[in-house]
Amino acid sequence: MLTINELPKHIAIIMDGNGRWAELHGNDRIYGHREGVEAVRSVVEGAGEIGIQYLTLYAFSTENWNRPKEEVDALMGLLVQAIVAETENLHKNKVSLHAIGDIGSMPIEVQQKLAGAIAKTSENKGLKLNLALSYSGRWEIVEAAKKLANELKNNKIDKSSINEELIGKYLPTFGLPDPELLIRTGGEFRVSNFLLWQIAYTELYFTPKLWPDYRKEDLFEAVNDFQKRERRFGKTSEQIRI
Ligand code: FPP
Repeated sequence: MLTINELPKHIAIIMDGNGRWAELHGNDRIYGHREGVEAVRSVVEGAGEIGIQYLTLYAFSTENWNRPKEEVDALMGLLVQAIVAETENLHKNKVSLHAIGDIGSMPIEVQQKLAGAIAKTSENKGLKLNLALSYSGRWEIVEAAKKLANELKNNKIDKSSINEELIGKYLPTFGLPDPELLIRTGGEFRVSNFLLWQIAYTELYFTPKLWPDYRKEDLFEAVNDFQKRERRFGKTSEQIRI
């Protein structure tokens, strides 16, 4: 049973296993990514239904650029297709679309379609769906470091003012709350350079299910598991219970 008051505000997902799913079904990797879009649809719908406020999906990492060109091209094509096909539906469901990552490095068509969908859904007050594209945690920490160095050099800030809160403000994801729950499908136990700064106290949930098989019911199961956990943030059990 899901209880409303302990719902995570922000869920982040590493959608892994498309390639293996395709292999299991005797098909090429692209087929797995295409089926992965079905899983995205179901999970976005489910997150909206239970009242999750932010959902961040790791759709393309900085490291994914190193995949074979045909796979990268197919993924970009799929993204364009999915954005075009789904925007209306997202809009109807009051979802607002956002993106994090080095968006300027994405093909121009992806940038344009993404910008269009973001603009169209920007006033929606339901789920905030955040696509991580050409994103990595280290990339954004480096971006923050560059900006901070610049501010120091130009005497805009003083060294003594540097603390966690200030660094957070220089991150490209500033404004996005830390996820309370990070789900990874596909049976691997890694965080793969995803939201490194933000997951300091995030609950991690791993499932062997391959992403194309993942559905909203699986998301609910993960949330249910999250609700049974005791989040101590470095304190003791006794301190938490008072
Ligand atoms: C990881 O599986 C998955 C990706 C790198 C791409 C995820 C993309 C989608 C689900 C489709 C488009 C997304 C949206 C938001 C419309 P993998 O290829 O690493 O699988 P493997 O570990 O089995 O090889």
